[in-house]
Amino acid sequence: MAVLDTGRTVAVIGTGAMGAGIAQVAALAGYTVRLYDNRPEAVAKAMSDIAAALNKLVLKERLGAVECAAAIARIQSALSLNDVADAGLVVEAIVENLAVKRALFAELETVVADACILATNTSSISVTAIAAGLKLPQRVVGMHFFNPVPLMALVEVISGLATDAAVAQTVFDTAAAWGKNPVHARSTPGFIVNRVARPFYAEGWRLLGEQAADAATIDAVMRDAGGFRMGPFELMDLIGHDVNFSVTQSVFQAYFNDPRFTPSILQQELVNAGFLGRKSGRGLYHYSAGAAAMVSAQAEGPQPKPEYVSYTVAQGAEASHLLGAAISDALAARLRAAGIHVNHRKAPEARGNGMQDEAPAFHCNGAALYLTDGRTATQRAHDNHHPDTVLYDLALDYGKAPRIALCCAEQCSPAAYQAVVGLLQAAGFIVTRLDDVAGMAVMRTVAMLANEAADTVHQGVCSALAVDTAMQKGVNYPRGPLAWADVIGFDLVVKVLAHLAAGYGEDRYRVSALLRRKLAAGARFHG
Ligand code: NAI
Repeated sequence: MAVLDTGRTVAVIGTGAMGAGIAQVAALAGYTVRLYDNRPEAVAKAMSDIAAALNKLVLKERLGAVECAAAIARIQSALSLNDVADAGLVVEAIVENLAVKRALFAELETVVADACILATNTSSISVTAIAAGLKLPQRVVGMHFFNPVPLMALVEVISGLATDAAVAQTVFDTAAAWGKNPVHARSTPGFIVNRVARPFYAEGWRLLGEQAADAATIDAVMRDAGGFRMGPFELMDLIGHDVNFSVTQSVFQAYFNDPRFTPSILQQELVNAGFLGRKSGRGLYHYSAGAAAMVSAQAEGPQPKPEYVSYTVAQGAEASHLLGAAISDALAARLRAAGIHVNHRKAPEARGNGMQDEAPAFHCNGAALYLTDGRTATQRAHDNHHPDTVLYDLALDYGKAPRIALCCAEQCSPAAYQAVVGLLQAAGFIVTRLDDVAGMAVMRTVAMLANEAADTVHQGVCSALAVDTAMQKGVNYPRGPLAWADVIGFDLVVKVLAHLAAGYGEDRYRVSALLRRKLAAGARFHG
């Protein structure tokens, strides 16, 4: 471990929302912290905000009064940059502007000792570019905290081209000693989280744009079936559409207009209108006084439980490798746990059994119910020569999910669809119908998250473990995207993406070469 000695001083430059949080965490970890801001009133405000936050922790009995007083006493204001000359680590959290940051670092080099580490909390500027032209660019590293700093565990430790590995390791170990969950990453646009999270928003916009459902319904499906803490639209309303749109635009431009990152025209219109989300009283939802913040999500009315349900799984050597078999089994278990008698049928072989579709299927009242594989239900009904086709969406945990989403083929009879609705309602699900959209909501989003995560690993930005840790600790995903791909099976993830690519004819859905390689190797990302 190369943790910065607690006898050393940590300097925080720029004491806005992020700088104050970083100072609080460093002081609690036992360091003397010096705060500098070119607006002295910002330092005073940060010091009183930190004291208030720490005193609140004491009231909640999460911090002792003595520790609180000691931490507050360790935080000192710096009136000029010269006052941080004794720092062992400087964390910069000033305005997000390359020229201003470069000027600050150049000045810092004339103040601090050569051994002092210079870290930047930038969320979007190349660490390589910030370090360029300095006397000792090897000591410049990204230390990217997430907001609010005291609560969010993730720290992305970003190495630029010149960064010394030992410097990155010291910052990594120091962040861990501060109680954070650090990950290493190479300086590339969006680093890990701001890149890999793009499909969470982008697929939401695509679903909304194609009228798969309204925003409240898509949010409810992502929350209740996908297990995400918030749906994409409520989250963007919270972040602010101006902020979210500008991050998407900057990542899109930084990757030379890669269609994977194409911003949404719908979101641009919200920004044009000034409907920025919670902060402006209106985004996708209305927040003005008197208006209900959340409109309710679509849910199907009650239908009777069907008389007969069967679950057909092809047998034979390949049975365990059938697409989505583990997921279908989990849904079958939920039905059985609800007391529904499910007749288990084994089709003679995976292929050549008269069924056009080798995926496990539930049958009731003539309807065939399949897990989505990236085709629309209408396309699948056509391909299978079976009009009464209904698809269900991915869920994080079929045993516990309160909601499940369905897509119904245009050719499907109302009676067959209602039987499926009645079946899933009998198992305790709220059933939400999406218009027949390829890949549905959770599956298509998770497949694209896993695809982006795989490319991030493939391009050497970070490890598979780092990307999953980053998405869980930085944006509270219920499961890392690559761990999710392990659960779904790479065969199904690749098929979903390939169907989306073929269906839309867009490069946006191209499959990561690493996913294809892992599939061919029969490997997993974890374990
Ligand atoms: P902020 O606007 O709340 O605070 C910035 C502070 O820096 C202000 O107090 C300002 O007076 C001071 N400042 C500006 N130029 C300065 C200079 N040349 N020398 C000394 N002080 C200067 O900004 P915030 O949100 O705290 O962000 C700071 C940095 O952290 C930015 O690089 C931002 O991209 C990054 N960041 C922000 C996150 C967020 O959610 N707000 C998340 C992660 C990173």
